[in-house]
Amino acid sequence: MKERNIVLIGFMGSGKSSVSKRLGELLKRAVFSTDSIIEEREKRPIAEIFAKSGESHFRKCERELVKELYGKTGVIIDCGGGIILDKDNVKDLKKNGIFFYLSGTPEFLFDKVKHQKHRPLLQVEDPLAKIKAMLKERGPLYEAAKDYTIVSTDRTIEQMAKEVISKLGL
Ligand code: S3P
Repeated sequence: MKERNIVLIGFMGSGKSSVSKRLGELLKRAVFSTDSIIEEREKRPIAEIFAKSGESHFRKCERELVKELYGKTGVIIDCGGGIILDKDNVKDLKKNGIFFYLSGTPEFLFDKVKHQKHRPLLQVEDPLAKIKAMLKERGPLYEAAKDYTIVSTDRTIEQMAKEVISKLGL
């Protein structure tokens, strides 16, 4: 049987990248971070991709990358927070992936991202209000895509990684 991929989804600041990295160490599996791969390929940070080429270009990069990644086996895929906006991404990643939704309250997520400058979508006057509005739109998409929810509010990376492993029965 093909070993399924572990796919982490969730809002910016929910801990996907750190949990993926820890899962990679604990399970000795390769980790693919969509944001990092796009930045490497484009040779520029995400903020610059958004500023100079627009969000639509970034979403195209994401879509092309998902097409390359979903056929892998037994890897960990750390998805950018907006990957679920394209239903084809979800459909493809579902073919061989188990989805874990790292979910956090708007206040918790705000606390995690408030001093960071690399997320263009949150460089607004009132980021907490923006997070709330985006979660309203995306919450149902994360919920519909997920196989399991991992609560991230007030939890450590270690706790979340261990919970993923236990949900997988590994
Ligand atoms: C985005 C999330 C970011 C990155 C880009 C857009 C989003 O990834 O892909 O800034 O639309 O939620 P993280 O969730 O890893 O911060």
